[in-house]
Amino acid sequence: MLVTGAAGFIGSNLCDFLLDQGCEVAGLDSFVTGQREFLSKALKNAKFQLHEVELADFEHVKAVTAVFKPDTVIHLAANADVRFGLQHPRKDLEQGTVVTFNVLEAARLAGATKFAFSSTGSVYGEPEIFPTPETCPFPVQTSLYAAAKLAAEGMIQAYAEGYGMKGYILRFVSILGERYTHGHVYDFANKILDNPKEIDVLGDGKQTKAYLYIGDCLSAIWHILNKCEDKINIYNLGPDEHINVDQSLDVICKVMDATPKRNYSGGKRGWIGDSPFIFLDCKKLKSTGWKSQKTIRESVELTIRWLLANDWVLKRRQT
Ligand SMILES: NC(=O)c1ccc[n+]([C@@H]2O[C@H](COP(=O)([O-])OP(=O)(O)OC[C@H]3O[C@@H](n4cnc5c(N)ncnc54)[C@H](O)[C@@H]3O)[C@@H](O)[C@H]2O)c1
Repeated sequence: MLVTGAAGFIGSNLCDFLLDQGCEVAGLDSFVTGQREFLSKALKNAKFQLHEVELADFEHVKAVTAVFKPDTVIHLAANADVRFGLQHPRKDLEQGTVVTFNVLEAARLAGATKFAFSSTGSVYGEPEIFPTPETCPFPVQTSLYAAAKLAAEGMIQAYAEGYGMKGYILRFVSILGERYTHGHVYDFANKILDNPKEIDVLGDGKQTKAYLYIGDCLSAIWHILNKCEDKINIYNLGPDEHINVDQSLDVICKVMDATPKRNYSGGKRGWIGDSPFIFLDCKKLKSTGWKSQKTIRESVELTIRWLLANDWVLKRRQT
């Protein structure tokens, strides 16, 4: 298996998971946001190899992939922050779309038979159907991040049609858990540590989203790759519940033993492109026999406890 974004939150957990399943794994990462410490367990395993590669450099990706000759490529590397897209309008195109093309083409040239891609529930924009199924129409994109992911989805579908490689398009809700390094739990933890008396909350606190625990995300990826053999396999990955920002902040405050006064910036969205309600219909995935193990509240609690026990992560990453 070849995993891009191997040093990231999801990628490093995935490498450990795949190694535990007995797979041979090549991890590719440029360390733009990835953390070497996250790979310390994997690097002790003889079945793991790490390659420092900037995936925008096609010749480098091609060379590494040609030598490893993976049967399956799981492409996770991307700019994973939705929120700041408008501050650097080219970044999502380059990191989300062009890089995906590079990895896809390198995978094809190396003879890979399966290509899995971490897409997002944000591709649905602001849908009118909840929970939102894979077949929901999504005519309007509201973020550059999701627009770049959607373009990448299209390329993967065309490759699957044209070259016979199986495509796995996995639309994740937000993921929580160990090695989490960006998102609202991270931001709130940093803010409460800075000032436990007051906290700025983006929007009105009622934005409502589904979150999936990292262990459940990994078991779903593994399950889909092993059970689903269509030419193009499109799956939503998420739990069958949701939580709003205020409720999530309640859990965080309880764990941190803080009761900050909440100052809301107001409005239904936290930022331009923030979808006020994300809740994916995951019946299709569940019908294949997969189910999640952790509730959202358990996931938020595990995440905050992990961040507090690994506070170097809170200090290190700049979004
Ligand atoms: N975390 C979530 O909640 C979530 C939700 C939906 C989709 N996703 C998608 O899942 C994937 C992984 O997300 P994550 O949360 O682990 O993010 P992350 O930032 O922790 O990991 C991304 C990894 O990719 C690497 N990377 C980025 N650009 C690269 C490049 N050009 N060349 C080489 N390496 C590069 C980074 O160094 C990092 O290690 C992303 O594609 C993201 O869009 C994540």
